[in-house]
Amino acid sequence: MNEIYLDNATTTQLDPWVAEEMRPWLLEKYAAPTGHFGHQASLEAKEKLEQARAAIAESINAQPEEIIFTSGGTEANNLAIQGYLKSLKKPVHVVTTAIEHESVLNTLRALQKDGVELTEVGVDQDGFIKLEKFNAALRPETVLCSVQLVNQEVGTIQPLAQIGRICAKKGIPLHTDAVHGWGMVGLDVKKMNLALTSLTAHKIHGPKGIGALYKRKDVKLSPIMYGGYNEFELRPGTENLPGATGMAKVIEMMKPEHIEHIDKLRRMMWDAIGSQIPWVHLNGSVDRGAPHILNVTFDYIEGESILLRLDMQGIAVATGSACFSKALEASYVLLAMGRPHEQAHGSMRFSFSRFNTTEEIAKTLNALKEIVSDLRKLSPLTPRKEA
Ligand SMILES: Cc1ncc(COP(=O)(O)O)c(C=O)c1O
Repeated sequence: MNEIYLDNATTTQLDPWVAEEMRPWLLEKYAAPTGHFGHQASLEAKEKLEQARAAIAESINAQPEEIIFTSGGTEANNLAIQGYLKSLKKPVHVVTTAIEHESVLNTLRALQKDGVELTEVGVDQDGFIKLEKFNAALRPETVLCSVQLVNQEVGTIQPLAQIGRICAKKGIPLHTDAVHGWGMVGLDVKKMNLALTSLTAHKIHGPKGIGALYKRKDVKLSPIMYGGYNEFELRPGTENLPGATGMAKVIEMMKPEHIEHIDKLRRMMWDAIGSQIPWVHLNGSVDRGAPHILNVTFDYIEGESILLRLDMQGIAVATGSACFSKALEASYVLLAMGRPHEQAHGSMRFSFSRFNTTEEIAKTLNALKEIVSDLRKLSPLTPRKEA
């Protein structure tokens, strides 16, 4: 394991307090909360599940019966989009953005084969949705909009309250993928006029494999998996009670001082990079971005080379391109922001958690300065005079 972990937007360390909260529900109280067994153990489990549901509902200003537990953000996004469109049984048009997570974009693109019409609205050079384009994309036959709260690569916070107002005025339900905003930035389903909201636990020190979908009471969904009658008949399968317990605990643990600390680390990192390393560009916005994500392009070098060199020094970061997961492709998010291919390839994502320290950031900065300078000396693209 790396000594310094700055890839917290991918996933985070499980908070030991959260693990403690989950422990009894893994080892001693392992009965299924599916109430129909009726024995004491299952009744106790059911009560705990409902407590977790209520805590998660409260965190977003929802009612407990509006929360459906899922296996994470991917499933919540699929249930929201597929479940909602399936319930309509008519030709539909959906509006989303070009920078959504794959679990939204690929779901919608797959549905195009079944006749769903899709508009992917572009973003500006900082990664914010173009509101006038969004407005113009809405049609009488638009049945759903899906706009994320925080972008997974560049951390931009979309103006969801404004988007919610536009959708409400036109009577179009709004879904948000809030996987990267929950616990980090304001999220209020009522104030934002949200019909559907996807959450996950593992981005803020909760366990992996648990998430939730908020479904406003009046919104109709069809199940996308079939089996038993759990989760209001919308999500079959034995409930992940340890996970739900951990998810409820993690949102309780998230305090304003943690967010301030994370934000301080991000600003410290950008201030130093921006002032001490030449030929860099910020992708996103420091002031209008989430506290935990910083994305920077280092001109003339590849993000992967920086990543590997940092990794050799025990520091884990992510690149903005998907080179390790797919054939050499630049990040679609950065391309949608208008970055040329070579800049998209030279980008790095640093993402922070409350367990990171200022010492770790200082150490990373020192390593980064040296690595960037070294790689630029080797790069034929570097302007020679100043290299
Ligand atoms: C914005 C966004 N949505 C959805 C997901 C998927 O969440 P999960 O890993 O819980 O399935 C991710 C994961 O990286 C994400 O960044």
